[in-house]
Formats: sequence, C-alpha cells, structure tokens
Amino acid sequence: MAESFAGLLRWYAEMGVDIAVDDAPHDRFAESRASIAAHTEAGTLSAAPQQTFDASHRITREPAPALPADAIEATALESASGATNLDDLRERLSRFEGCGLKATATRLVFGDGNPGAGIMFIGEAPGADEDRQGVPFVGRAGQLLDKMLASIGLDRTKVYIANVVPWRPPGNRTPTPLETAACLPFTRRQIELVDPKILVCLGAAAAQTLLGTKEGIMRLRGRWFSYRAGDKEIQAIAMLHPAYLLRQPAQKKLAWQDLRMLAKEIRRLQLFALPFNSAI
Ligand code: URA
Repeated sequence: MAESFAGLLRWYAEMGVDIAVDDAPHDRFAESRASIAAHTEAGTLSAAPQQTFDASHRITREPAPALPADAIEATALESASGATNLDDLRERLSRFEGCGLKATATRLVFGDGNPGAGIMFIGEAPGADEDRQGVPFVGRAGQLLDKMLASIGLDRTKVYIANVVPWRPPGNRTPTPLETAACLPFTRRQIELVDPKILVCLGAAAAQTLLGTKEGIMRLRGRWFSYRAGDKEIQAIAMLHPAYLLRQPAQKKLAWQDLRMLAKEIRRLQLFALPFNSAI
C-alpha cells in the first residue's frame, strides 16, 4: 500500500504536480474554459485550450486555439505595446488569457533584479521553485546562474532577469511554439522597457525565440548578435542554460568562455567597475 502511494506521488511529481495549493482540488481547465467563454463573449479575448498527450505524456499536438494564433498574438501585441512601464506590463500580462500555461501555473513569474542595470538575462520558462516563489531563477539552475554571475563580479543588483515564457509549463516541459508566440509581444516589450545595453539569452529556447533562428545553441553560443528592440539595436549574446550545465558539467568550460566575453564587453562599455581578475 505504502509503495503504491509512493508510486502515485512519484507520478504526480513527474507530471509537475509538486505542490499542494489547496485542500480541495480545482478543475483549472474548466475554470479556464469558463474564463475564455466569458472573454470571447465579451469580445475581449482569445484562448488556448488543452493539449493532447500520448501514453508517455508527451504533447502529441497543440489543439487549434479557439481563436487563431495570429488573433491571440494581435491581442498580446495590442496589450503589451500599450504598457508604459514594467509594473504596467506585469499588470497587463497578469490579465492576458491567451497562453494556456496560465491555467496550470501557480504564479506569474515576471522578472527579478535591477531593470536599470544595463544587462538583461532571459531564460526559457519558470520551473517548480520559480512557480512557488514568483521569482525567476531561484531553483538549482538559478543558484548556478548566481555563481556564474559572481564569477565575473555580477549579482542581481547588476542585472535584470526574465524568461521568454512567464508561466511554468507542467512537468517543466519546453514551452510549445504557440505558447511562446503568444507571450512574445510581452517579452519584447519587457526588453524595450528595460532597454539593456546587453541582452544575454540563456539556452536554445530564449536564443532561438529572440534571435529568430533555428540554429542549435552550440552554434549560437559565444557569438554577438544584434537584437532589434523598437527603434534600437541591442547587442545580444547566447550562452548555455545553467540547467543544461547542471546535467553536463563538462560543458562549464564553454560557459566560462562566454562569461569572459560578456565581462570584456561590460568593461568596454564601462557598465560597471568589475573587480580585476586576470582570468577574466
Ligand atoms: N529555468 C529558466 O529558464 N528560467 C527560470 O526562471 C528557472 C529555470
């Protein structure tokens, strides 16, 4: 009996059910459907219903959204482009119903750090710890990111951190292209409002989404790109994601090369007086 309960708990954890948020269960999909119906009736929105899964719980297809993807993106664009500051953008994002991940996530994970610092890091999507705390990169990958920052004299007072998708995908799966596209106008506006001198894309999902390429992260990392934000060009670099480095520690040497490139550029732009370290 104990073994079957342990098995059930393991299965829940694998499916992303790793926190008890209430005494009674909620059917979030039903709530989401009701909200979508209300918004659609009021003409205020767009929707993203459930995916379908195969026997291994992989997504087999993304369902046709109640409204076409371009209508969802247009709604997102209209809302995001009206935001005049980061608080306003967060508020607008919290009211946005066009990304299905909102229905299964506990919290919106918007951003952390210093938006005035001149350096912005963007990851993929929140994990379980971030979902619980509402802050990006606070779990194991986040702790490694903090160490990576510290290795070149940075910390969260000297960078701003966000994700391309602000809600946790169930079971920490990669966000689907529809989910990412629905959130992208908000991410792009967030970058415009932060207006960093340097944009750092952590991992393939962030790099491919923001740099508009399908190239793999091993080809993208360690190179400078130009990212267009409104009427400005921002220099951007891709790096290996800290979650990948936790699984593949031998690749940390590549991350160190990229961090040194970043440190060199920070010095050139005189963004901060980084501590002298001949290794950097
Ligand atoms: N991984 C990410 O990409 N983002 C987070 O916030 C946490 C883990």
